[in-house]
Amino acid sequence: MLIDRNISLKKYNTFGLDYKAECIIHLKTEEEVVSLFKNQNSCKKPFLIIGGGSNLLFTDDFKGTILLPEMDLIIIEAQDKEDVIISAGAGVNWDQLVGWSVYKGYGGLENLSLIPGMAGATPVQNIGAYGVEVKDVIEKVRAVSVEDGSITEFSKVDCQFDYRNSTFKGINKGKYLIIKVYYRLTTRPILKLDYGSLNNEIKKLGDTTLKNVRQAVINIRKSKLPDPETIGNAGSFFKNPVVSPDFAENLKKSYPQVPAYNDPSGGIKLAAGWLIDQCGWKGKKIGHAGVHDKQALVLVNYGNSTGKEIWFLSEKIIESVREKFGIELEREVEVVGTI
Ligand code: EPU
Repeated sequence: MLIDRNISLKKYNTFGLDYKAECIIHLKTEEEVVSLFKNQNSCKKPFLIIGGGSNLLFTDDFKGTILLPEMDLIIIEAQDKEDVIISAGAGVNWDQLVGWSVYKGYGGLENLSLIPGMAGATPVQNIGAYGVEVKDVIEKVRAVSVEDGSITEFSKVDCQFDYRNSTFKGINKGKYLIIKVYYRLTTRPILKLDYGSLNNEIKKLGDTTLKNVRQAVINIRKSKLPDPETIGNAGSFFKNPVVSPDFAENLKKSYPQVPAYNDPSGGIKLAAGWLIDQCGWKGKKIGHAGVHDKQALVLVNYGNSTGKEIWFLSEKIIESVREKFGIELEREVEVVGTI
């Protein structure tokens, strides 16, 4: 178990914010995790588990211990004619896992290409893109209790998945460290191509194959979303809001072009990016923080921003969407620190 003290968090959050942590522990094996939580005395609490740091907004130095799961094995656990169960250690880079699965010809993850972060974080916020959510393929999640080091396996139902949500953001928030995620993939892929521009992008590439679906998603994401390696960001900063059918109907009278989709809850899901764009925010800057010029849902760090600056910008955006549309946007990123 490798322990670092008083370390910059810059490379551990995709916003590239330069705060410090008192202690960082690198966890390479399940045994190390179990031993850490059984003994509890290596480093100061609170604990914060980071799986890629692609959904975090630090606003202060972290006065506790950052835990970095670094178990990085991919295992084929079981296989029959059509299904293959694979497991990925929490520290497996997500896009490398997607790339590997496509290379092997296993279907299920391809629409989730190029999402930043690690496999262990994927069930936490039930990552989703281009008509697929990771819950569609998760079989179970193996986790260690932070309280006593015991191991629990969460079935798909136990995970209580919802839009960008799960039990790990709800009643079990902060209580478990995910060490391994099991995914049920298929050797006879059924491609999901009905999301917006996906089909057109695939046609440009030629045949409708697993490989081309991945490539099309990569092309779309690269054209719209900034690469965190080049410009700090955390993907979608806000969730897409769900409103009542009556509210959506009224909105359509004033804005016939509003993107609106039926939500399984019975409500209507609106595109937060569109709402923000309509308020004139696309490409705008306040201090060193800004709104991406190709996708208004993404806030960016132009280099020297603080977390508080990004927070302030997000408050201004929430205010203007509230004033113009009467809709309350909710942040998708997790804020760590005072505001
Ligand atoms: N739109 C605008 N202006 C903008 C942004 C979007 O008018 O600045 C419009 C688009 O033209 C489109 C609609 O809003 O009609 C929806 O936009 P898009 O298809 O780009 O998807 P999204 O709803 O903005 C969601 C996810 C993304 C995911 C994409 C693709 C959320 C909060 N975001 O974005 O997830 O990649 O769909 O499936 O659900 C992430 O979570 O980090 C993320 C990037």
